[in-house]
Amino acid sequence: MNGFDTVISGGRISTASDTFFADIGIKDGCIAALGMELGDAAEVIDAAGKWVLPGGIDGHVHLSQPSGEGIVMADDFETGTRSAAFGGNTTILPFCLQEKGRSLHEALKAYHAKAAGKCYIDVAFHLIISDVTETLLGQELPALVEDGYTSFKIFMTYEGLALSDLEMLKVMETARKSRALVMVHAENYDAIRFLTDRLEQLGNTAPKFHAASRPIAVEREATHRAIALAEIADVPVMIVHVSNREAMNEILRAQGKGLKVFGETCPQYLFLTADDLDGLNMEGAKYVCSPPPRDRASQLACWDGLERGVFSIFSSDHCPFRYDDPKGKLALRGRTSFRWVPNGIPGVAARLPLLFSEGVMKGRIDIHRFVAVTATNQAKMYGLAPRKGTIAIGSDADIAIWDPERKVMLTHDLLHDGADYTPYQGMEITGWPQLTMVRGQVVVRDGILEGPKDHGMHVVRDRSAFV
Ligand code: URP
Ligand code: ZN
Ligand code: ZN
Ligand code: ZN
Repeated sequence: MNGFDTVISGGRISTASDTFFADIGIKDGCIAALGMELGDAAEVIDAAGKWVLPGGIDGHVHLSQPSGEGIVMADDFETGTRSAAFGGNTTILPFCLQEKGRSLHEALKAYHAKAAGKCYIDVAFHLIISDVTETLLGQELPALVEDGYTSFKIFMTYEGLALSDLEMLKVMETARKSRALVMVHAENYDAIRFLTDRLEQLGNTAPKFHAASRPIAVEREATHRAIALAEIADVPVMIVHVSNREAMNEILRAQGKGLKVFGETCPQYLFLTADDLDGLNMEGAKYVCSPPPRDRASQLACWDGLERGVFSIFSSDHCPFRYDDPKGKLALRGRTSFRWVPNGIPGVAARLPLLFSEGVMKGRIDIHRFVAVTATNQAKMYGLAPRKGTIAIGSDADIAIWDPERKVMLTHDLLHDGADYTPYQGMEITGWPQLTMVRGQVVVRDGILEGPKDHGMHVVRDRSAFV
């Protein structure tokens, strides 16, 4: 015996930069050795014929967030981290939402309580800032950045969340001084309100009009403005959930000027279109998210941005509501107008298989780019590297073993989330994560949940490597 707890033998390992055949020796939850024929261990996992990848890191996940009266998010930390594990993920970054009139400390206390003892995989919180007070800017936020909460999201739209330009600048100024990363939801709130009122006056209230209420110009304008504000405040910025070429070109232009402007896209912008919101019997509500899915040309633009590196990360924006449930998509007033349909769709488990199959297996991106946008860049972006996001000696043994040949028809029961549908139902997928390991502990193996639900830890983060 060589003293390893586990050896993963004979697999084809890929990182963001290299592919090689080696065994992985795991000791005390970390990768202790990479080499040929590492031999025996307490457990040997045969990975011959399989691809051994860093576990996915999903930098954009919503769990247990309040969503308006009577509406309940379909995943808590238990079901959300379970579903993530089935989809080959080993760390997720959910949001801790500050409610108006409350401090960030109160919010964090509440979200840590929601997560305590209920995580299958590791978690780290981003903060959502909704109430920009002098105390928050001057004291709370800088202290929390020191404590490892090194990124926060701000919104340009949504009632109760949208910040003014002045408030955005103030948050950005604090981020600059603290060297934190600002994430921006870029849509023009007033334009959405104007268009929503106009559509409703015309009686256009079905789910499909959600897309018409937030056309590309709404996102392009806000993306431009967010970048300009970040330039003025002299701070890096991450534009999340980019859906189309015009918004992407704003990012590209800023990158060309040498600004630290980063972009994220998500499965819904590669695989869905606004036509999906046009289903019979309100089925379109299943696809209501913001920004909305667009058209074929926008899908191609988002693929292009992933391939060329305009987008450095690919995240799920998992934000699940049940469809067929009185507390879900069509709760209360949801049937009366798209205005009241909660925004967000599930995707934490489908994200990696979708990109693996349609990206890697179809030759649009190579496996290194896949690993980069789903794990390594996520870890660097959000201060988790080098502990997470790669396969290297000394890193956490956060590993997903993929069967690159397995053909799967995507159905909701494979995803093990708390929702009651998947937007990707029926898609034919090639490649599937057959084993997910978090810090050396197998959490999912061959479609069976093995990991205890208190294995997941809260990870204290460093600052972004890009700030
Ligand atoms: O529609 C969406 N994306 N809902 C989740 C919240 C957000 O804006 O990311
Ligand atoms: Zn958002
Ligand atoms: Zn989101
Ligand atoms: Zn189901």
